[in-house]
Amino acid sequence: MRLGILTGGGDCPGLNAVIRAVVRKATGEGHAVTGFRYGWAGVLADDTVELTHDRTTGILPRGGTILGTSRTNPYADGADGSASIRAVLERRGIDALVPVGGEDTLGVARRLSDDGVAVVGVPKTIDNDLAGTDVTFGFHTAVQIATDAIDRLHTTAESHNRVMVVEVMGRHAGWIAAYAGIAGGADAILVPERPFDVEEVCDVLRRRHATGRTFSIVVVSEGATPRDGAGLATAALGDGATDAFGHARLGGIAVALEAEIERRTGYESRMTILGHVQRGGTPTAYDRVLATRFGVRAAEAALAGAHGTMVALRGTEIALADLAEAVAEPKLLDPGLYATAEVFFG
Ligand code: F6P
Repeated sequence: MRLGILTGGGDCPGLNAVIRAVVRKATGEGHAVTGFRYGWAGVLADDTVELTHDRTTGILPRGGTILGTSRTNPYADGADGSASIRAVLERRGIDALVPVGGEDTLGVARRLSDDGVAVVGVPKTIDNDLAGTDVTFGFHTAVQIATDAIDRLHTTAESHNRVMVVEVMGRHAGWIAAYAGIAGGADAILVPERPFDVEEVCDVLRRRHATGRTFSIVVVSEGATPRDGAGLATAALGDGATDAFGHARLGGIAVALEAEIERRTGYESRMTILGHVQRGGTPTAYDRVLATRFGVRAAEAALAGAHGTMVALRGTEIALADLAEAVAEPKLLDPGLYATAEVFFG
């Protein structure tokens, strides 16, 4: 048999570990693997590379993706993406396709599956907002990077008696903010699921400073928004443009928060936007293992004909989730986790 594999959407530490695992499992059993370059763009353009043991050796610890990625949407502007993709897969003799991606890439995979194309998805996103799996690979690495940054900001915050506003990624969900905030001992954490009131945030900081603390750490998701939109001039860094899946480019809420917190409280404030640093570089050991387990299971499922599925972590086991269910709704932050974080606010 011949499998196809592609990596789509934003890149994420662990993608190469998945590619390596799919290739090793499939070729080890006498099958072949075609890599499509730059996500769905590579399928549409029939841009391929033969993936062998030799071609995928040494890539386990490498960030990014050897296949490249893109946010190409095969159905954009009413295009019949399924027909174009099916034609290329048939020409290339692909028996099953393994798309590695988040909500958008796997949303395309679901649509292809509905149209009869054999697919097995692998859940990837640093945001950890895909349903059907307890965790996506890449999340653990992003949290570690953000936590390391918060630790560093702590010491300089303390030296200068400043409020540090740290913006992390998280478009719809505050998983990175909550985990890194808890791990880094944040004094306030603002997430997309809970629109915030900037005056309440300032009150938390005032209460903290009233007990003798002279500095604070505020962690904010890029997708967090003020409750009524008022009282905070949101300075989006994006130019309002959207990608092929209709997502606005986020980033910049920390700019507005820094200014507003300083204006309202009088505490000197500084902001840091971690941005794509969170997506770069080598995956943690946890993500290497998770990505490897996902890749091996995806190859097994694709070869066994368990199509229309997505590999998933359920507890400690790797399971197969229904692809349609996995992409139906984003997995938002667990309110119980946020309640734990709140114990330490102020
Ligand atoms: O979806 C993952 C993610 O990193 C989001 O957290 C972020 O909003 C987005 O990708 C950024 O995308 P890009 O790299 O295209 O700017």
